[in-house]
Amino acid sequence: RIAGPCGLVIFGVTGDLSRKKLMPAIYDLANRGLLPPGFGLVGFARRDWADQDFGQVVYEAVRQHARTPFRQAVWDRLAEGFRFVPGTFDDPAAFDTLAATVKELDEERGTGGNHAFYLSIPPSFFPVVSEQLARSGLTDQGPDQWRRVVIEKPFGHDLASARDLNRVVNEVFPEESVFRIDHYLGKETVQNILALRFANQLFEPLWNAHYVDHVQITMAEDIGIGGRAGYYDGIGAARDVIQNHLLQLLALMAMEEPGSFHPRALRAEKIKVLSATKPVGPFEDTTAYGQYTGGWQGGQKVLGYLEEEGIAPGSTTETFAAITCEVNTRRWAGVPFYLRTGKRLGRRVTEIAVVFKRAPHLPFDATMTEELGQNALVIRVQPDEGVTMRFGSKVPGATMEVRDVTMDFGYGHAFTESSPEAYERLLLDVLLGEPSLFPVNEEVELSWQILDPVLRFWAEQGTPEQYRAGTWGPASADAMMARTGRHWRRP
Ligand code: BG6
Repeated sequence: RIAGPCGLVIFGVTGDLSRKKLMPAIYDLANRGLLPPGFGLVGFARRDWADQDFGQVVYEAVRQHARTPFRQAVWDRLAEGFRFVPGTFDDPAAFDTLAATVKELDEERGTGGNHAFYLSIPPSFFPVVSEQLARSGLTDQGPDQWRRVVIEKPFGHDLASARDLNRVVNEVFPEESVFRIDHYLGKETVQNILALRFANQLFEPLWNAHYVDHVQITMAEDIGIGGRAGYYDGIGAARDVIQNHLLQLLALMAMEEPGSFHPRALRAEKIKVLSATKPVGPFEDTTAYGQYTGGWQGGQKVLGYLEEEGIAPGSTTETFAAITCEVNTRRWAGVPFYLRTGKRLGRRVTEIAVVFKRAPHLPFDATMTEELGQNALVIRVQPDEGVTMRFGSKVPGATMEVRDVTMDFGYGHAFTESSPEAYERLLLDVLLGEPSLFPVNEEVELSWQILDPVLRFWAEQGTPEQYRAGTWGPASADAMMARTGRHWRRP
């Protein structure tokens, strides 16, 4: 589907996200013919820029990060709709200029009074920006027009602050006009979870406590915090990743079949399953948190977290977090969901492994099945996107020896279509007003409710356990699994 007449205003346009993701995504959408011909893009920031300077910044971002080939004609047409408004978030005059600019775009480019405001800024500025948008009339929409707001995490620091934030935003924008970005939901492999489960007969009969031993959700990164100390320190791995990406993955894995793919139906199932999800304690046994120290990675010497630029001395922010959840429904009672994430781990990989129970009886000699593990279905979210099934097979030869083998589906082999970047898909959905891939406030609050008790426990415990860069996290992470007779997969 192609977006109708509209424009996009980006606050925080000088930031990393804007240059690396948003600007390239806009160009890629234009290049694929998915934006309206008169699309308008307005940058708002505290810079002394003219429209041309802004255009140059977008140009460089596009040339560096766009997925699709550069085409001059597409670029020229898109660039005609670029405007820049200099100003600070509390400057009424700047917002009046912004309102005038948007109106001018409506008249000159035909954006039709339809505008999305992308707040790529720290949440502490949401109140003042929302207030200024309302005051300057930018949130007023005529009949058959729309105004939407896009917000980025962190959606609060805990349940209480998330509620405050939601209230502030909802005072100005009704919930149906609020699009909260969780970029994992924009990934093809994540959207495929529901296709895999509900388009097939093969998996769903096994998708329950009768057959599943446990589920592991891993999002491992090899990078450290790089230049993001200002954002990351004091936030940590659990708030950065578990509260949003990993609990959304859990919801998609564990939810019941929705009545339809209507956004309301999907949302209802996600809310139901998140309401039934709790962290399992005692947390000293069922969770782990750590902080990386210096080490070697990919043949390179890397700094420890506390040595990175901009980190508060003695910071106790965790860069690795693992928790155990239970989903208290008939389908999942007794099946642990293990969630882990960390920076500076062995390699970059996100995967979801459904590990099945052992067959109730093995009619083989015990010595013949020493190399047989538990069956598993692994959804490879990234990189090397695909799905792997692991099961036992007879080893060729004169004896009935059974060993684990894998069966693979890889996107690269199965499809000629390329996957759009997550932000491309999500931006298009904002402009189309298609809310399925955006968590609503209730999901955000339920996720905090799940995480808060663990965060409180860690805060009382203090200093996180150290782990060396390039390893798979602190020893306590392995211990928490070993206690239940299980182990983390080494992807
Ligand atoms: C972001 C986190 O949401 O996801 C980052 O804030 C993290 O800390 C990033 O690096 C990882 O995204 P992806 O798509 O590379 O897995």
